Amino acid sequence: MEVLTFKNKAEASQKAFDLIKESLANGAEVFGLATGSTPETLYELISDSDLDFSQAISINLDEYYGLAGDHEQSYRYFMQENLFNAKPFKESYLPDGTNTNAAEETAQYDQILENHPIDLQILGIGTNGHIGFNEPGAAFDCQTQLVDLTQETIDANKRFFDSADEVPKQAYSMGIGSIMNAKQIILMAFGENKAQAIYDMVHGPVTPDLPASILQEHDNVTVLVDEEAGKLL
Ligand code: GLP
Repeated sequence: MEVLTFKNKAEASQKAFDLIKESLANGAEVFGLATGSTPETLYELISDSDLDFSQAISINLDEYYGLAGDHEQSYRYFMQENLFNAKPFKESYLPDGTNTNAAEETAQYDQILENHPIDLQILGIGTNGHIGFNEPGAAFDCQTQLVDLTQETIDANKRFFDSADEVPKQAYSMGIGSIMNAKQIILMAFGENKAQAIYDMVHGPVTPDLPASILQEHDNVTVLVDEEAGKLL
């Protein structure tokens, strides 16, 4: 795991952009994408660039259960607004949050992942160390599942909703096993509230209590943090 600390989010996002550009030039075709505030600047850089993803495939990490793709807080909507409108991919996959048949939805998503092995996965990290929506306790080899969100995650994400009551309590998430299958991973984290999770991910034991700690066992992970998120390192 290579850890690089930058002065701010803009500089770290520029580094992420450069790595993506390089992997695209080297033939990467399948990109695992994340949502949240963390990759916003990266997606702006990509949107304003001349990179061409029209022959590439994107597969997102997760989607809120119960939200349709046209709901403003759905991750489908986020991706559309923040990236896909400016940079269309050949195919873009996210879980269907409106599918109430979890067995069917998760099996379909796993099939998509099997058909399209991820070349480069973008990750953020939750304050509790979650990746995607794989909360503490999730098995390291798990595949796509319907996850119960922890109160910490609901609280952290309520800033995007009118009230905490409106935050979905469940989400479909790509599993940690699938994330670990990605050939290359870039994890970004910004702000002081991520500092402990980043420290534990880099220096702590590999434990399901801190899902991101499993990344210590992946052979191609680059961690990009700003000074605040890296302050305990
Ligand atoms: C969210 C998402 C994650 C994201 C993380 C951090 O709940 N499921 O994919 O990386 O939590 O979010 P943010 O980037 O807004 O801090």
